[in-house]
Amino acid sequence: MALRGVILAGGLGKRMDPLTRITNKHLLPVYCKPMIYYPIQTLVDAGIEDILIVTGGNNAGDFLRLLGNGSEFGLKHINYTYQRGEGGIAEALGLAEHFAHGEKIVVILGDNLIEKSIKKYVQDFRKQPCGAKVLLKKVQDPERFGVAEIKGNKIINIDEKPKKPKSDLAVTGIYMYDPKVFDIIRPLKPSKRGELEITDVNNEYIRSGKMTFDVLDGWWTDCGTFESLFRAGSLVEKELCKGGKKICEY
Ligand code: DAU
Repeated sequence: MALRGVILAGGLGKRMDPLTRITNKHLLPVYCKPMIYYPIQTLVDAGIEDILIVTGGNNAGDFLRLLGNGSEFGLKHINYTYQRGEGGIAEALGLAEHFAHGEKIVVILGDNLIEKSIKKYVQDFRKQPCGAKVLLKKVQDPERFGVAEIKGNKIINIDEKPKKPKSDLAVTGIYMYDPKVFDIIRPLKPSKRGELEITDVNNEYIRSGKMTFDVLDGWWTDCGTFESLFRAGSLVEKELCKGGKKICEY
């Protein structure tokens, strides 16, 4: 059976005001498609057809108007749920417990775009008996992300937005978890910024020796700042669209 996929598209996108004043960040355009199209396509390309979108804010209904049952992506159905406020990525993920049905899940942040398929990583995770997997990517501005500390071939810690990063390997917003993830989320306490942090969840897996990692092939970007949204649009135009052709046809 294929794994289930969860797209986290909650939060209020305050960092991108005024763009997000009257719409949800994940509905903003990235070149020729709304942002949310890209993570959906990433999951579908990895063979994942059972998808839950966690969204929030005042414009949640617009996801349904835009995506309907997902037929544009060849899906039969899309599941939706609602996060009140912006209590953090781990809080949003906690809302997926009923959807996971006690199985492993693949999670992608709704503002993460990647160039290549994640199919091989998903297949490897299917074979992993338990635990979690994160995908890392070398970046020039690690202080903006969760940053991985690697020793030998092991990931030994993740620091969330460190002032002095211990490596240049960012933790991308693509995570794979066994069903224990919901037991880890339940007792979490909010961080200084008032959020349930996905980095705390990942560090718990690291402590128990059950976290694996891969370094992602091809480019990766988030769209959580004006600069990265602009960069994402250019990457799509240059490298996926090849002058307006490929991506704009699916
Ligand atoms: O993009 C990768 C980075 O994403 C990781 O390196 C960091 O470890 C991780 O914490 C996260 O950092 P950000 O500061 O970029 O996360 P942000 O608050 O921008 O949220 C990213 C997405 O997560 C957002 O587009 C939707 C979802 N989200 C976020 C929050 C705070 C929710 O669904 N609910 C939320 O409450």
